[in-house]
Amino acid sequence: MITETASRKAQAYYEQAEAMYVSLYGPNFHHGYWPLPDDGTTYEQALDNLTDQIIDRVGAGQGDRVLDLGCGIGGPAIRLARTTGAHVVGVSNVATQIEQATARARTENMAGQVEFEQADALELPFPDESFDAAIAIESLIHMDRAPALSEIARVLRPGGVLAAADFCLNAFVTPERRQVLDRYRALDSLSSFHRLDDFPPMLRDAGLEPVELLDASGHVERSVKMWWERTEADLENLTNHYGKQELSDFIGLFDDVITHGGPEYLIFTARKPRTPRPAPDHA
Ligand SMILES: C[S@@+](CC[C@H](N)C(=O)[O-])C[C@H]1O[C@@H](n2cnc3c(N)ncnc32)[C@H](O)[C@@H]1O
Repeated sequence: MITETASRKAQAYYEQAEAMYVSLYGPNFHHGYWPLPDDGTTYEQALDNLTDQIIDRVGAGQGDRVLDLGCGIGGPAIRLARTTGAHVVGVSNVATQIEQATARARTENMAGQVEFEQADALELPFPDESFDAAIAIESLIHMDRAPALSEIARVLRPGGVLAAADFCLNAFVTPERRQVLDRYRALDSLSSFHRLDDFPPMLRDAGLEPVELLDASGHVERSVKMWWERTEADLENLTNHYGKQELSDFIGLFDDVITHGGPEYLIFTARKPRTPRPAPDHA
């Protein structure tokens, strides 16, 4: 099955890339968000800002049960639980991420409010309509969107909101950028890039009504420079871990993304309608 292969590929990628991710991002495996391109926001603050962009949009509160699809090592799930009072269930397909996230929740005294479970996002081990809301921060980038969004719609209660950060294409793709995108896909085990305009019909087909689609590329583009600086600062450790060739592949990709551009960065929210869409009339 294609989806199973994609999940296994992403799993193998994260098992191998974990040391680099921890070095580049700490507990948040995602881009940073800068309110203004050259404000004084630090990288750590920018990483939390991105989580907060998603938390603000999902609108969860005390007593809500929230799914974090593709939870990494738990930073965003724990922050969401702490700041909103919601109960958060994080799932990832990587066992070591679940171990680290669970340990982090315990260390931060949040174990009663956050739980983590190893599962494939395309076959969630939860009943229909068992969550009030869901977040997916840079996890859909690895998945076939149609089945992943349908699975989220299945577990959301009617009226429940999904807030997500994803990649998309929203600007002209030059041949140079096409090459960068292809390398990005291959190196980071990414799924296809979709045009921003494809998201509304894709969401509707999955049973979700689009609420907001924001091209946030300008707010996150400093992240790549940060990865560059972090990699340089931790070069010896990362070279020992990955070997020179693999590390220079990643550094080369960062350079090319800075020069030619990578995918655009999409923040979107969608809601599961309270009443299902009527079936098409085939009479
Ligand atoms: C870029 S990381 C983002 C992690 C987290 N959302 C964050 O912001 O820190 C992508 C996450 O998606 C997870 N993932 C990718 N494909 C998955 C799948 N099919 N099922 C479950 N998790 C998946 C990865 O293991 C990883 O935890």
